[in-house]
Amino acid sequence: MINLYNKDCIEVLKDMKDNEIDLCLTDPPYGVNLKYNTYNDNLENWYNLMEKFIPEAKRVSRMLVFPSCSINKLKWIYDNFPPDWLMSWNKGSTGHAAYIGFNDWEPLLVYGKLKEVYFHDVIRVSNTEKMGNYNHPCPKPTKWFHWFYTKLNKIENAKVMDCFMGSGTSAITAHDNNLDYIGIELDKEYFEAASKRLKQHQQQLTIF
Ligand SMILES: C[S@@+](CC[C@H](N)C(=O)[O-])C[C@H]1O[C@@H](n2cnc3c(N)ncnc32)[C@H](O)[C@@H]1O
Repeated sequence: MINLYNKDCIEVLKDMKDNEIDLCLTDPPYGVNLKYNTYNDNLENWYNLMEKFIPEAKRVSRMLVFPSCSINKLKWIYDNFPPDWLMSWNKGSTGHAAYIGFNDWEPLLVYGKLKEVYFHDVIRVSNTEKMGNYNHPCPKPTKWFHWFYTKLNKIENAKVMDCFMGSGTSAITAHDNNLDYIGIELDKEYFEAASKRLKQHQQQLTIF
């Protein structure tokens, strides 16, 4: 079952039960002034959002995984919400270089664990996968979600969640992996585009 919510994820999380999700794999805003329709991606908002998001997402999820965003946020994360584990997302060369942020690799913060699944801790998924625009500034590669989702087949009726669904990449990947899924997106336009993307994806699969 796929459930999509056009809401603030903090509101949705508050109504959820402890550990009802097996894996919350998500891609929060980065706090780098990226231009989104609704959300103001400044640093202060990032701290405020993370203070509410991390404890609630940990409570409802057996395992929570999300990118650390940029290197200068790691100290704050470790001081306030130390993760249980770090994984390394190896993106390959994205063709750009910068001093702050992560170019060719990025830590993924991991809270909790799934006793049924063993994960390697290096994920090699190119960030240069040909991605559509989907009217969104930063869609993730489907293979990023796929890398995790394919490993959940040892869990009966596995349930996944993406609290920052954006263009709906996780929704179509959850569909392809036959997983129960909750996707949440604040912005109405992104939400509608993601819903349409999912619908078209499901229809295409029916035709072929
Ligand atoms: C980094 S993008 C996610 C991109 C997504 N992984 C994809 O593949 O398209 C973060 C998203 O979080 C949304 N967002 C920001 N605050 C939110 C909140 N409180 N609840 C739900 N979504 C939120 C933004 O509108 C944005 O689309």
